[in-house]
Amino acid sequence: MKQSFNSISKVTGELFLPGDKSISHRAVMFSALAKGKSKIANCLNSQDVNSTIEIFRQMGCDIERTKNDVIVEGKGFKGFTEPSQPLNAGNSGTTARLISGILASQNFESVIVGDESLSKRPMMRIVEPLKLMGARIEPSSKGTLPLRIFPSNDLHSIKYSLPVASAQLKSSLLLAGLHLDETTQIVEPVQTRNHTELMLDLEIRKTDEGNLISVNKNFYPEPKEYFVPSDISTAAFFIVLTLLSKNSELKIHNVLLNETRAGVIEILRQMGGEISIESEKEISGEKFGDLFVRSSKLENVKIDKEIIPNIIDEIPILAVAGAFAEGGFEIFNAEELRKKESDRIHALCVNFQKAGLNVEEFQDGFKLKGFPSNDRFTFESFNDHRIAMAFAVFSLLSNNGGEINDFDCVSVSNPDFLKQIKSIVRY
Ligand code: S3P
Repeated sequence: MKQSFNSISKVTGELFLPGDKSISHRAVMFSALAKGKSKIANCLNSQDVNSTIEIFRQMGCDIERTKNDVIVEGKGFKGFTEPSQPLNAGNSGTTARLISGILASQNFESVIVGDESLSKRPMMRIVEPLKLMGARIEPSSKGTLPLRIFPSNDLHSIKYSLPVASAQLKSSLLLAGLHLDETTQIVEPVQTRNHTELMLDLEIRKTDEGNLISVNKNFYPEPKEYFVPSDISTAAFFIVLTLLSKNSELKIHNVLLNETRAGVIEILRQMGGEISIESEKEISGEKFGDLFVRSSKLENVKIDKEIIPNIIDEIPILAVAGAFAEGGFEIFNAEELRKKESDRIHALCVNFQKAGLNVEEFQDGFKLKGFPSNDRFTFESFNDHRIAMAFAVFSLLSNNGGEINDFDCVSVSNPDFLKQIKSIVRY
C-alpha cells in the first residue's frame, strides 16, 4: 500500500502509545516458560509480538489476547509440546534469536522459519555460541534461517564474551543457560539493552572486561503480572515530529526510560530539543515517565561510538531530525544497521537522496549535507517499519508532503501509527 502524507502546520495533544516491543516479547516468553498463569498489561499488539505468541501457542500454551493485555498459561520447565509445523518468526529477529536459546534446551526437534527479510539476517552469531554450549542446531548453508534444532544430551554452561554488541545474542545464550544447573557467564564488553537481565533478576557484576552476567536454573521465571511501559522507539517518531514542527507541544504517557534505551532523548536534548520528563516511576526495574515535548531549534551533534547500541533502532528517525537540523548529520560505527529488517544504511541513503540531500555512504554509516528540496517526495519503505515511519515523519515536515511505498510494514511494531498521527496533527 502507498501512503500519502501532507505537510502539517502543528502538533498538539497527548498520546498513550503501545507497550515496548522488546519487553513485550520477553514478557510473553518468560510467561510461557513459567508454570501457571501470568498477565501482561499493555503488551504490544503488533505483528512481531503476535509471531512470538503464535509460536508458544504451537508449543501448547494457552494465550488469550485482548487489545492491550495478554494472559498466558505457561508450561513450566521443559514443559512445551513438540510443534507439528515449523515455527514462523515472521519479520522478528528478537523472536527467532531468543527462541533459539529456549528451543536448544527442549527435548524435541523444531524448525524456525521467517519471512524474506528475516531469512536473510545473520544467525551464525547465535549458532556458534549455542553449539559451544552443546546445542545441536543447523542453519541454512548461508548461516541463516531456517534453523533446525535437535534435542541434545550434552548441554553445558560456558563463559562467553560477546563479539557483537547484540542484546538478541546475549538473551539467546542467557535463555539457554536458564535451563542448566551450572552457571553460564556472559561477558558484555559494550552495554546493550538489559531487559532480559532485569526481568529475570539476573546477577550482573561490573568487571574490567565489561558486564559479567550469570544465569542458571535458579533464575527460572515464576508466573507474574507484568506491566509494559510504552515503547521509546515508537515514541521517538512523535518526539521528532513535535520538535521540528512550529508552535507544537505533545505529552506522551508512560514512556520507557531504561538507560540502555533512552539515548535518543539524550541526543535530541544535546541537539537543543526541549524534552522534559514528569511522574517518573519504576516497576520491576524498568523506569518510565511522561514526556513533554515542545518545538525546538535543532543543531547536529557528534554521535559517539559507545552510544550506538543504545540508539540502534532510533537511528532512522534521528537521521531525519538531523536532515532538518543545522549543520550536517553524520553517523559512523553503525555497521549493525546493515543487518536489521532492511539494510538501513542503504535504505536511508536512497531516501535522503530522493529528498535532494547530498549523501555520502560508508560501510558503517553516512553523512548528510544540505536541506530537503521543495518537491513532493516518493520514498521507499524497503518493507522496514522504522524506515516507513521515519519517512512518514519526513513527509509531514516537508513543505509539500510525500508518499511512502509499501507502508503496511508499520504493523510490525505499531499498527496504529496512522491513527496516532491523525489524533495529534493539524493542517
Ligand atoms: C532487540 C535488540 C536489538 C534491536 C531489536 C530488538 C531486542 O537488536 O535492534 O530491535 O529486543 O533484544 P540486536 O540485539 O541484534 O542489536
